[in-house]
Amino acid sequence: MKRVINMSEQQIIHDTRQPLSADDVRQCLFDLGIRTDDRVVVHSSLSALGYVIGGAQSIITALIDTVKDGTLIMPAHSSDWSDPAAWSNPPVPKEWVEDMIRTMPAYDKELTPPRKMGKIAETFLMMKKTERSDHPQASFAAYGKEAAELTSHHGLTPMFGLQSPLGKLYQRGGKILLLGVDFSSCSAFHLAEAITGIPAMEKIGSPIMVNGQRQWVWYEDFIYDADDFPKIGQLLLEKGLATTRPLGNTQAIVADIKTAVDAAIRFIRITRQNQDTP
Ligand SMILES: CC(C)(COP(=O)(O)OP(=O)(O)OC[C@H]1O[C@@H](n2cnc3c(N)ncnc32)[C@H](O)[C@@H]1OP(=O)(O)O)[C@@H](O)C(=O)NCCC(=O)NCCS
Repeated sequence: MKRVINMSEQQIIHDTRQPLSADDVRQCLFDLGIRTDDRVVVHSSLSALGYVIGGAQSIITALIDTVKDGTLIMPAHSSDWSDPAAWSNPPVPKEWVEDMIRTMPAYDKELTPPRKMGKIAETFLMMKKTERSDHPQASFAAYGKEAAELTSHHGLTPMFGLQSPLGKLYQRGGKILLLGVDFSSCSAFHLAEAITGIPAMEKIGSPIMVNGQRQWVWYEDFIYDADDFPKIGQLLLEKGLATTRPLGNTQAIVADIKTAVDAAIRFIRITRQNQDTP
């Protein structure tokens, strides 16, 4: 079969001196201190790595091999299973909203596509043994030893609270791994926001199944805000609480989730409400 031409892929090939293999990724993960029984939440950008031989599949294989007795987690968020009246990027015409709320299908963890989580996370979600949590907007996918436990009982609100897969990871111990993305993608900092309880609340909605019936449900959650996440990440790096290693055209970053979230809690308390000292 002839390969379809993809301009961005052509650019990536042009910008890559040495393509990355699954073995290179395994070595990098080992150098970052990731071990076989770790629990790891991964955020990623495939294109940032430069050309990867085998693409997302190679990255996932390397991750699974590295934590073969542990558990991997990736975001599977479907932010568009939400109130269309609140959409801004892009917005939809006001006249559509009522119809959309009436007819948008219920979140279905087998079927609802993740939005803007990247090819690695999408491919991870496709694997047969991957479990997915029940939150219509902020689900996580997990694979490995504790996949079922970590994804179970993901309540509607707060979506990034202690009962969420991230909250469980924080309580059980685990690592945050960023592949080609910075801390602005680090959803664990949303957990920090939820723990502080500082952000204001808003009414949000989603279509879900309730007693076998599709229903639009309204609920309250925090107004999460990632604007200061890069600053928090920078602080972690400066204090030696996060480690980086080169990976292809970019770098991989790892941090202990408890250390990172506790630092984020302190930062948020100081900067957003002046409740504490560093
Ligand atoms: C949005 C985001 C996923 C975009 O990253 P991206 O690298 O542009 O997109 P993907 O990871 O899906 O990779 C796809 C791209 O890889 C490139 N690609 C294809 N094959 C490739 C290969 N073998 N090697 C390297 N790159 C390849 C292509 O350019 C492709 O882009 P295209 O779909 O436009 O053709 C990323 O910036 C991001 O934010 N990731 C974190 C998401 C997250 O965890 N969010 C949670 C926050 S709460």
